[in-house]
Amino acid sequence: MREKIVAGNWKMNNDLAETEELISKLKLQMVKEPEAKVMVAPGFPNLYPTFQALKDTPVIVAAQNMHENESGAYTGEVSAAMLKSVGVTTVILGHSERRAYFHEDSAILKKKVLTAINNDMTVIFCFGEELEDRKNDKHFDLVEKQLKEALFDLPKSAWKNIILAYEPVWAIGTGETASPEQAQEMHKHIRTLLDKNVGKEVADSTSILYGGSVKPNNAKEIFAKEDVDGGLIGGASLNAVDFVAIVNSF
Ligand code: PGA
Repeated sequence: MREKIVAGNWKMNNDLAETEELISKLKLQMVKEPEAKVMVAPGFPNLYPTFQALKDTPVIVAAQNMHENESGAYTGEVSAAMLKSVGVTTVILGHSERRAYFHEDSAILKKKVLTAINNDMTVIFCFGEELEDRKNDKHFDLVEKQLKEALFDLPKSAWKNIILAYEPVWAIGTGETASPEQAQEMHKHIRTLLDKNVGKEVADSTSILYGGSVKPNNAKEIFAKEDVDGGLIGGASLNAVDFVAIVNSF
């Protein structure tokens, strides 16, 4: 069963006090049992306080990154075991900002995904084309390559722990969204790729989120598309009223 999911990626925003304030507002705004599964991803230092503050709600706390090795001399990095020990069992991997600024390529992402899966974590795997790829009509091939290189060798059983997030780079934080039709066209392509490379069961049961300038005024139209199962929300997730409006957009 494909789940409806709305995940907020808070990126490198909010100190502890601001995080607590945002959570209080979220708790006030949100209905007890939203139709969609709701996730929020604060920065590392705020993961545990967020987990504590939300543990009496259905909201799931996710990390924004994780190291590919289990432990060891990797100064500044965070392992799967560390995340799990503070209540975090979901991790965003492959975000375009990680790919662009921290040089994460498919080879590293493949290892990260495998480590997460081996630790029984859920992965929100992000991918998507640059504007140049779309202009050159390479967006379908590029997305296929990203998925193939990082995910298509995984055992079938891993897919129950994978959520896909298609995020065209040109739409992230730019205010420019893919049209609902462009999102649907790509999501359908992704589902076809899953069917071809992993199997129909996985294609039918994997949630595919759209990300890139989703706002309360465009979420409904995008989420209404057949192959769009929800969204990964950056900017608008920092405002409780906007985020909850998006959560309620199904
Ligand atoms: P945005 O970010 O909603 O601010 O465009 C989306 C994301 O980076 O996941």
